[in-house]
Amino acid sequence: MHNRPIAAITGASSGIGMAIAAQLAAQGYNLALCARRRQRLAELADTLALQYEIEVLTQSVDLRQEAQILSWFDAIAERFQGLDVLVNNAGLGYQQPLTRGDTEKWRETLDVNVIALCICTREAVKLMRQWGDDQGHILHIGSMSGHRVPSSGMYSASKFAVRALTEGLRKELRADGSAIRISSVSPGFVETEFAAKYSGSEEKAQQVYEQFPVLQPQDIANAVGYALGQPAHVQVHDILLRPTQQSS
Ligand SMILES: NC(=O)c1ccc[n+]([C@@H]2O[C@H](COP(=O)([O-])OP(=O)(O)OC[C@H]3O[C@@H](n4cnc5c(N)ncnc54)[C@H](OP(=O)(O)O)[C@@H]3O)[C@@H](O)[C@H]2O)c1
Repeated sequence: MHNRPIAAITGASSGIGMAIAAQLAAQGYNLALCARRRQRLAELADTLALQYEIEVLTQSVDLRQEAQILSWFDAIAERFQGLDVLVNNAGLGYQQPLTRGDTEKWRETLDVNVIALCICTREAVKLMRQWGDDQGHILHIGSMSGHRVPSSGMYSASKFAVRALTEGLRKELRADGSAIRISSVSPGFVETEFAAKYSGSEEKAQQVYEQFPVLQPQDIANAVGYALGQPAHVQVHDILLRPTQQSS
C-alpha cells in the first residue's frame, strides 16, 4: 500500500480537517492525521481504513508543543518513508478584543494558526526533499478573515499572516528551484465547532450558522481536492469561498 501518495493533515478530529481526511482517502491517499483528541482520530482512522483500504497513522499532537510536532513527523518518516501533501488545517480563534483581550488566548491563536503551521511546513519540506525529489504540495487553510478584517482581535491578524506565509513560501520555493507547490483555501462561514469556541457559546454559534445556508466542511474539502488534483504545471494560489448569502 506504500505506492499510494501520502497526505498529512492537522486538525483532523473535527470539521474541515475531518472532511479533508475523508476526501483525500477517497482520492486514494494514505493518511497521517493529528489533533489533540486521540479517540476521535482513532474512530476516523478505523472508518477510512476500512472503507478505502488505505493506511492511516494517527497521533495525538498539541500543536503548541514543538516537540510533539517533530515526533509526529518522525512517525510519518518511519511509517511511510515520504510525504506528498501537507494540509495545514488546524486553527482557532477567540472573540478577544485588542483593547481588553486575554494574552493567553491571543498567544494560543498565533501559536496554532501561525507558528505551528510554519513548523509543520518546514518539517514537511524536509521530508519532500529527502524522499520525494523535492516534489509535493502544501496547502494552508486560510480564511476570508485573511482578506479583510470582519472584527477586531487576533484571529484575523493570524489569517493575514497565513496569507503572507503562503506567498512567502511560494517565493522561497521558486528561488530554491523546488517543484513543491503551495496553495491556500480561504473560507467564509463554515458550520463546524469553530464558532462555538470563538464566541464561547453554542447558542451564538447556532445564530451564525442559521442566519442563511453557510458552507459545509465538504465544500472546503472539494476545493482542497481541486487544488491538489491539478497537473504539475498548475499552481492554484488561493481559493476564496463564501456562502452565497454572506455579504461581509
Ligand atoms: N469554520 C469556519 O467558519 C472557518 C472559516 C474560515 C477558516 N476556517 C479555518 O478552518 C480551519 C479548521 O477549522 P474548523 O472550522 O474545522 O474548526 P474546528 O471544528 O474547531 O476544528 C479545529 C481543528 O483544529 C484542531 N486544533 C485546535 N487547536 C489545536 C492544538 N493546539 N493542537 C492540535 N490541534 C488543534 C482541533 O483538534 P483538537 O481540538 O482535537 O486538538 C480540530 O481538529 C481553521 O484553520 C480555521 O481557522 C474556519
